[in-house]
Amino acid sequence: MKQREQWTSKIGFVLAAAGSAIGLGAIWKFPYMAGTNGGSVFVLLFIICTLVIGLPVLLAEFVIGRRGKSDAVTSLKKLAPGRKWHWIGWMGLGSSFILLSFYSVVGGWILSYLARALFFKLETTDHSELFNSIIADPVEVLVGQAIFMVLTIWIVQSGIRGGIERASRLMMPLLFIFFILLAIRSLTLDGAMEGIRFLFVPDWSYLTSKTLLMALGQAFFSLSVGVTAMMTYASYLQKEEKLGQSAFNVSILNIVISLLAGIVIFPAVFALGQSPAEGPGLIFVVLPAIFNEIPFGGFFIIVFFILMLFATLTSSISMLEIVVSTGIRKKYDRRRRAAWMFGALIFIVGIPSALSFGVLANVEMPGGTIFDFADLLTSRIGLPIGALLISIFAGYVLSSAETDDELRMHPYLNKLWKFIVRFIAPIAIVIIFIASFLS
Ligand code: PFF
Repeated sequence: MKQREQWTSKIGFVLAAAGSAIGLGAIWKFPYMAGTNGGSVFVLLFIICTLVIGLPVLLAEFVIGRRGKSDAVTSLKKLAPGRKWHWIGWMGLGSSFILLSFYSVVGGWILSYLARALFFKLETTDHSELFNSIIADPVEVLVGQAIFMVLTIWIVQSGIRGGIERASRLMMPLLFIFFILLAIRSLTLDGAMEGIRFLFVPDWSYLTSKTLLMALGQAFFSLSVGVTAMMTYASYLQKEEKLGQSAFNVSILNIVISLLAGIVIFPAVFALGQSPAEGPGLIFVVLPAIFNEIPFGGFFIIVFFILMLFATLTSSISMLEIVVSTGIRKKYDRRRRAAWMFGALIFIVGIPSALSFGVLANVEMPGGTIFDFADLLTSRIGLPIGALLISIFAGYVLSSAETDDELRMHPYLNKLWKFIVRFIAPIAIVIIFIASFLS
């Protein structure tokens, strides 16, 4: 029987965890959520939720994962034998399954844009119309989604070392540099300051429990927290890694990239007279317009979409990884078959989401379209509940001796973390969750 693999290097884990976190959440979802939830207040709440709740729960996942050293279900069983806590693992599997089913739809949109950019077919005066025609075309979206899933499966089936690690190391820094250059261009457009105001000067009328739940869901989504993905990644980790440092780095990096995405998008939105509340199409409408304003934009946009595709893949593989590792449990030689089988199933489940901007646009579900419903089920329900249970597990089921042994931070920091996962995080999640459904 095959052995479990380990990360080959320290940096491999940090990059892979950051790769899982940084993806469509920061680049696509953050701007459109900020745009539809009033901008600045959402941004502020997102940062607070990330630091006060997301980061400690992320650290809890790292602790549980490395201590358990297995897929999430087995780890939780090992750490709390004879009890029901391993259901967190099954729930995470369910959440990541649904997450990936609609995430791959957006991955498909990126492929569409990339293909068009390659053939210089992105030149249009009406980017909004172009986007709407792409996502309404059933053949185009399904082909895009299918290719995206095949890429994801292909990386996952080759095992963690060959696929994820090597790839993560290469492209993330490039993406970052690109974003900085784009931000500079966007900020120097006429009328750009309006966008900065929208992002950073609070309009308190948006301070509602719904915005708070959206911000919390966004923090979890973009940190990949609450679905045991990070638990699974940490299970491949050796003992020397400093978990607190890694969780901190991932969280800060994620905030920085989210804000950068906002600084790229919103100045351009206002300067070019577009609507911040465009919804899921926001970056697809705005980015090509910014590239139009850049010398050799037609070339750079190709590079950009390749990098974006990459950031998206490093996240999607972590979702499939949870499903596969939990699905095969200890039968490591079944990885390849499981990756294809689950990948195909996820594609099928995602078809209605893919079609919900065209053929199925009129189907009304809680939260909006079928696509919105899949997002609601995960970001606003599955992830917060998963995160709640994970923090309770780390706070109450694991002893302080166990968690301290994994954390090995300054004793005060250990205590602070324990206090947060015991009291602050669970209480905050429950209150935000209930309040948002009552309002
Ligand atoms: N954090 C990813 C993103 O922001 O794009 C999304 C994600 C990946 C969520 C993996 C959950 C997960 F398990």
